[in-house]
Amino acid sequence: MVQVAILGFGVVGSGAAEVLADNRRVIEKNIGKTVAVKRILDLRDFPNSPFGHLVTHDFGEILADKEISIVAEMMGGSHPAYDFTKACLEAGKSVVTSNKEVVARFGAELLEIAAANGVRYLFEASVGGGIPIIRPMINDLASNEIRTVNGILNGTTNYILTQMFENGVSFEGALADARAKGYAEANPAADVEGLDAARKIVILAALAFGKLLSPDAIHCEGITKLTSEDVAVARALGCSVKLIGHTRRVGERVLAMVSPRMIPCSNPLAGVSDVFNGILVDANMLGECMFYGKGAGKLPTASAVVADIIDIAAHENGVERAPVFVPATEADYADFASYRTRSCFSFVTAADAEAKIRAAFGAVQTVKVGERIAFISDEMSEAEAEAAAAKTGLTLASRIRMI
Ligand code: HSE
Repeated sequence: MVQVAILGFGVVGSGAAEVLADNRRVIEKNIGKTVAVKRILDLRDFPNSPFGHLVTHDFGEILADKEISIVAEMMGGSHPAYDFTKACLEAGKSVVTSNKEVVARFGAELLEIAAANGVRYLFEASVGGGIPIIRPMINDLASNEIRTVNGILNGTTNYILTQMFENGVSFEGALADARAKGYAEANPAADVEGLDAARKIVILAALAFGKLLSPDAIHCEGITKLTSEDVAVARALGCSVKLIGHTRRVGERVLAMVSPRMIPCSNPLAGVSDVFNGILVDANMLGECMFYGKGAGKLPTASAVVADIIDIAAHENGVERAPVFVPATEADYADFASYRTRSCFSFVTAADAEAKIRAAFGAVQTVKVGERIAFISDEMSEAEAEAAAAKTGLTLASRIRMI
């Protein structure tokens, strides 16, 4: 049994407790160990939470508890998060965090303290919310020299920009919505002024180039000065506007910055909308590689925190965890005939084709393209799809399943 303490029972902290409880069996299956929350530190009480009985207001109790080997810090802010992290590492406990402020400001020192004490300091959730980006940068791209990183790194501003420019929602309305959904920082100025993205790009720059810049010392512009005219111009030029964190090496030095950028629609970052983040890494052997997923929110971010907990728990005895495959037996194969999916049906047009289609498929929306009449069906099994197509009495030109 691996015992964990959670510091900070806010949006992400409560999400981590939920992920560990709800996915307990998945985690046991994946690493062959049970991971359980033993204590939760918060100033508040949570009498209505299923984890309320685990809450303590005394950090010393967690620090002194020898059974707690991993501490998940999700307090936010620099202090006391940094101080508690340092104390835990020095006490021989590994620490995982979603706190980009602490990683960006104190990451170099905390990694050194962790190494000196034979424990680990992991921060997958600090950049890109639930997207695996830190571990791939450390491990999977180790054979490459990184040329540039361009990232949509703040879910709140991306949500606001998408709502404003695609759905005509006001800046204030979109921000209020993002806060209600748990995307925004406690002080959302950190989101809209670009500071949150600045903290994240300095973390990515440190992984890419080995130097941890101060987020306060880099060029940082948010989205507050963007106007609807800027967006109209971008549209006319076939571009979209996104808040981008950018880093590259300039000679022996490192450039990191945050600013709104015009993105040609052909660039994969242009299609990253709402709370999603996208991180485009250009590596000298691989070329461009895109990481995409939910960049903020309770469970996505918590899933990355728990991934770090699992990484530490799985390696506690120093043995690398290998995937476990067993050969499938016949009973393991799902029945394809019962698989249900929507499909795009395309029939050759004929007299009364529309009525025949509706009689077989219900009230679907058809389009005519040359000699074809096509539509997207509801979910159907393979047998239902074949029977409905036959029932039309029309010639089926093609059926392509929807994703
Ligand atoms: N406020 C941050 C965002 C939360 O909107 O991206 C995730 O770091």
